[in-house]
Amino acid sequence: MAKSYLKEVYSGDTNDSRELYASWAATYDKEVQKNGYVTPKRIANALKDVVTDQSDFILDYGCGTGLSGFALQAVGFENINGLDVSQEMISLAEKKSIYKNLKVFDPFTEIPVYPDQYKIITAIGVIGAGAAPLKVFDSLFTLLPQNGLFAFSFNDHTLNDPSYEKKVKSCLSQGHATMLHKSYGDHLPKANLKSNIYILKKL
Ligand SMILES: C[S@@+](CC[C@H](N)C(=O)[O-])C[C@H]1O[C@@H](n2cnc3c(N)ncnc32)[C@H](O)[C@@H]1O
Repeated sequence: MAKSYLKEVYSGDTNDSRELYASWAATYDKEVQKNGYVTPKRIANALKDVVTDQSDFILDYGCGTGLSGFALQAVGFENINGLDVSQEMISLAEKKSIYKNLKVFDPFTEIPVYPDQYKIITAIGVIGAGAAPLKVFDSLFTLLPQNGLFAFSFNDHTLNDPSYEKKVKSCLSQGHATMLHKSYGDHLPKANLKSNIYILKKL
């Protein structure tokens, strides 16, 4: 029987999770799908409702094996690029032929995206427990143009640490963004996990 990574991922290091995803890549899709992984679909549907031009390029940050890109494509987004820190995860995304461009980068270097390059950035199942650190929120938000959209999720494990929600609240209260969507719902229902999904519009 394949090893269950869901049991260990959430106690993982958000500074560098590359080793974990290198080992998990081959069985990731099967394990999360078996547990009903639905956050990508929820974000894709919510994003579709607020985007006027679905041909706008999306940066799917932390695209992994491409389950998030698949959900975005399934609701009609045509142009999706993927970025991730794990070569093993991205190699599997490549095989799905969803992304126009895929790139691996070192998390200890700058994100290889220039400011205003994307009007829409997604980070689906990426920021928080077991994946990317909270500082990635600011790094991605900074890259957006005015009126750009940032769609992301925080799962229950991540929400247990109040600093994540605090970051969103301070972004709003400081007038940097307005919230277009926020909802709490299923994440990995068969593992009894939910998530908040958010869409922020940069002011
Ligand atoms: C739970 S997976 C989610 C993958 C995909 N978005 C999905 O919905 O299936 C988390 C992904 O974040 C990536 N990741 C971890 N730390 C990261 C960082 N600092 N920057 C970008 N991606 C990161 C991992 O390599 C992994 O592919």
